[in-house]
Amino acid sequence: MKPLRWGVLGATAHISGRVLPAIHRTPGNVVAAVASRPGRQAAAAEVARPFGARVHDGYDALLADPDIDAVYIALPNTRHVPWTLRSLDAGKHVLVEKPMALSEEDCVRIERAAADLVVMEAYMYRFHPQQVRAAELLASGEIGDLRVVRSAFAYPTATEGNIRFDPALGGGATWDVGCYAFDVPLWAFGADPLRVRATFHSREVDLSAVATMDFGDGRSAVLDYSLEYGPRAAYEFQGTRGSISVRNAWTSPVEDGLITVVTLDGVRDEVVPAADAYEHQTAAFAEAVREKVTPLVSPAHSARTARVGEALVRSAATGAEVTLRRRP
Ligand SMILES: NC(=O)c1ccc[n+]([C@@H]2O[C@H](COP(=O)([O-])OP(=O)(O)OC[C@H]3O[C@@H](n4cnc5c(N)ncnc54)[C@H](OP(=O)(O)O)[C@@H]3O)[C@@H](O)[C@H]2O)c1
Repeated sequence: MKPLRWGVLGATAHISGRVLPAIHRTPGNVVAAVASRPGRQAAAAEVARPFGARVHDGYDALLADPDIDAVYIALPNTRHVPWTLRSLDAGKHVLVEKPMALSEEDCVRIERAAADLVVMEAYMYRFHPQQVRAAELLASGEIGDLRVVRSAFAYPTATEGNIRFDPALGGGATWDVGCYAFDVPLWAFGADPLRVRATFHSREVDLSAVATMDFGDGRSAVLDYSLEYGPRAAYEFQGTRGSISVRNAWTSPVEDGLITVVTLDGVRDEVVPAADAYEHQTAAFAEAVREKVTPLVSPAHSARTARVGEALVRSAATGAEVTLRRRP
């Protein structure tokens, strides 16, 4: 089988420490080239060295490389749309970091531009066996009908030189950690909220948020997320017969996952052995390329998530509930 040859735009700790080793370990995938902005080739060379990958001076040079099949984009949030579109234009498949875009409209543009190419937002946690098991438990009906999703993602992070605190680069908790928290109710309910309301604690960007979503028929989501609180990464499904709690949902590829199921019949803990979400993500992406199918995290799903992010930002800015228009 011909391996999928990956090119990487940007050279960062996140990429070199977690994502590229995972791509390298996943059978049928090769880290073939890394590019930094012009003048930062030394950084790219350092990231490329452990994988024997080529180094390109500038992202356009990498996109012109005919021996690259797929591009991984982990640039500041406002750079995702332009470089995804350019990569697609160069005929490459694209795995782009979350958020794919800061608007529904831009996600739709990307979906249209992709045509037969695979483009996927890197919600790696969706591929982790812990999430797969949580989704199975939910679908099994053991907790009855889903009524409430509670979802929280927080970690305190350094502000110095951090793109997350720069409004011009699409910073803020909503697009950094919030998008994980509000992704969960969207797939769990398999529906879009009718109304959302959010309160932000902000300086230059939103640092923390509390939000609610109304999905109609007595179904709701309650979220909090933050770049300044102590660590928490958990979600919970509350059903008519019980609940499913998922600990360590987005953070750790090294620890075992823990799922607790509470029903009228009792309490049960399930341990899901440690697994690397980035490896599972790579394998799923490569399979979508090979099989020419839409990936689990489709651009259409990304558009739904971006739409909710936009609505939360609007609600916090106006202090009012935001009603989302019905999707066709
Ligand atoms: N899925 C996950 O687990 C996860 C974890 C962390 C981050 N992320 C996502 O990955 C993306 C990057 O986050 P990060 O923490 O890795 O960012 P980062 O290290 O600050 O920057 C990433 C790369 O973007 C380029 N860059 C940095 N500052 C820039 C600026 N001011 N203008 C233009 N380009 C700039 C640099 O590439 P050059 O090498 O070309 O200079 C840098 O190596 C974000 O979208 C974030 O949401 C995802």
